Amino acid sequence: MDVIIMADYDEVCREAAKIILDGLRAKPDLVLGLATGSTSLGVYARLIDAYQAHEADFSRVRTFNLDEYLGLTEDHTRSYAAFMDQNLFRRVNIPRANIHRLQGKPRDIERHCADYEARIREAGGIDLQILGIGRNGHIGFNEPGSSLSSRTRAMTLTRETVDDNARFFNTGEPVPRFVLTMGIGTILEARSILLLAYGVKKSDAIQRSIEGPVTASVPGSALQLHPRTTIVADEDAARLLSRKEYYRWVYQNKDRMSEFLT
Ligand code: F6R
Repeated sequence: MDVIIMADYDEVCREAAKIILDGLRAKPDLVLGLATGSTSLGVYARLIDAYQAHEADFSRVRTFNLDEYLGLTEDHTRSYAAFMDQNLFRRVNIPRANIHRLQGKPRDIERHCADYEARIREAGGIDLQILGIGRNGHIGFNEPGSSLSSRTRAMTLTRETVDDNARFFNTGEPVPRFVLTMGIGTILEARSILLLAYGVKKSDAIQRSIEGPVTASVPGSALQLHPRTTIVADEDAARLLSRKEYYRWVYQNKDRMSEFLT
């Protein structure tokens, strides 16, 4: 696991956007797994800036979103489909046909989820999966207790997550309790993973995911099993990490190993 500690949220977004744009330059038909939520907003803003400055071309990119609320169709303003349209898809040149997302009102949940997994496989798998993390350690909407080998499926949100999500809804508006989400097993099949976190609220989840035991009780800890995961956290989210100074040293000296090549 590579752990990168940045000063603040803005720096987290800059570093994350750089990793994504480097990936895009190396592979113009990059398959991206995408997250919604506050953390990803600043990263998407930077991708849009890069597109507008003619520094990035998304015309061959394919995307798969992590999750969607059950009961909300694409045209519902609180759906994750609407979030993605508003904050990324309408503002860069990803062809509509290349955008894949879970439906909030599928005809058959199991079939729809199996079909989503098949579409990921047909695309050749996800090259780079972007993740945020919940206060309780969830990744995607795999809440604590989710099997580490879970696949795309329906999930019930915890009360804590529903309360956190309430900020995107008007007062009195019902906040969905049920979602569809890629599974932890699905996420772990991505070739590389980039998890982002900022703020004190995420510090416990970040510490347990990076330095705690691998356990279904902290879904983010499953990333320890993945060979190419990068975690970018700001100082606040990183504050409980015991090996903070080590992570910093590794990052600052990351190019030095090339000195030893013959
Ligand atoms: C959203 C998702 C969630 C969020 C997490 C953090 O698609 O999969 O895991 O990434 O809840 O949300 P924010 O960034 O709003 O704190």
